[in-house]
Amino acid sequence: MNKRTKIIIAIISSVIIIAVIITIIVVVVKKNNKDEKKSSSYNPSNQNNDDNNTDEETGSNNGNNKDDNTNYYNSLFKISEKNANLNNGYKMPILGLGTWTLSNTQAEESVYNAIKVGFRLIDTAEYYGNEEGVGKGVKKSIDEGIIKREDIFITSKIMPGAYSNPDLAIEDSLKKLDVDYIDLMLIHQPGSNDEKVYRSMEKYYNAGKLKSIGISNYYTKNQVDKVLSYAKIIPAIIQNENHIFYQNNELQKYVMKHKIIIESWYPFGGRGHTTENFNNDVIKKLANKYNKTSAQIIIRWHLQAGYIVIPGSSNVEHIKENYNVFDFELSQDDMKEIYNVNINRRYEYW
Ligand SMILES: NC(=O)c1ccc[n+]([C@@H]2O[C@H](COP(=O)([O-])OP(=O)(O)OC[C@H]3O[C@@H](n4cnc5c(N)ncnc54)[C@H](OP(=O)(O)O)[C@@H]3O)[C@@H](O)[C@H]2O)c1
Repeated sequence: MNKRTKIIIAIISSVIIIAVIITIIVVVVKKNNKDEKKSSSYNPSNQNNDDNNTDEETGSNNGNNKDDNTNYYNSLFKISEKNANLNNGYKMPILGLGTWTLSNTQAEESVYNAIKVGFRLIDTAEYYGNEEGVGKGVKKSIDEGIIKREDIFITSKIMPGAYSNPDLAIEDSLKKLDVDYIDLMLIHQPGSNDEKVYRSMEKYYNAGKLKSIGISNYYTKNQVDKVLSYAKIIPAIIQNENHIFYQNNELQKYVMKHKIIIESWYPFGGRGHTTENFNNDVIKKLANKYNKTSAQIIIRWHLQAGYIVIPGSSNVEHIKENYNVFDFELSQDDMKEIYNVNINRRYEYW
């Protein structure tokens, strides 16, 4: 091989080596950019809404894209801290006691038992007719030194019949609960006077009588957008029917940019439907695997999916059981199995 040939081979080899190095650098840079984009998609300000504004329910999904929501919502609340950071900076416990169908006496007893067990969120409504009982249960717990008022988070709701005079409804709830402020007030369901009710809630929010405000039974993008169009204070919570057979994943994804948290009512399907929820094959299998009850698996699924959850009960043993969900964690695969139980079936249409 003469000198000239050697020089040519050396040049070609150098060019090939440089080309390989450049290719590797390009591949690595591209991959990094892709990863960055992926993680920043959890940031609400980077949300690219595929909002086509149809008035279809957004609650439905088959669970396929659920990981995005889960990671984002878990950044809003750490399950270990048992609290969520609402979009107004106020803290809300992520597991509460529901009181629908409880009489005043049952509500007082259940609230007291729940607080003793560790619950710090109580859900009631003007419509349930048990705000007085809830207030008494809270008062008893404060009087006995179990909690201070600021340790307990009370939610109530303005019922549709009261929408023509929402100020009065709020005053009434404050009086019946016997408290100076309510931690969260919700419009119970959409109605023709929504805007008027919302304005009233904002007025009481600004006066410090309501610490946060939100809506309930709003399932479509249009319904939510309508509220957002007039809201000066963005709703902190949307409380909706949400259970393994009807999962609010798409709505959750849609309201993410406002840091609105979905709160689940009927987490067990509600009275009369609990058996089919508890006996679902996936739930039963996981209860066996984690050595927990079906109720505990379902509650844990709600929490890990980024939902605040308020199982209802008037049974002290159930109340204890329902709070005992902070000592285990469902794996991602098991979460996915539950996401796939969804069949978009609601029990109620109010
Ligand atoms: N915004 C709205 O329109 C709306 C509508 C409905 C409900 N909510 C709220 O959401 C809350 C939850 O819904 P929900 O109470 O109707 O239904 P749920 O929580 O899905 O189910 C309640 C049923 O589950 C049973 N249960 C509770 N814990 C159990 C356990 N560990 N093992 C076996 N059974 C258990 C209860 O019976 P026991 O009493 O015997 O424990 C009751 O029959 C309500 O209480 C209410 O505060 C809001």
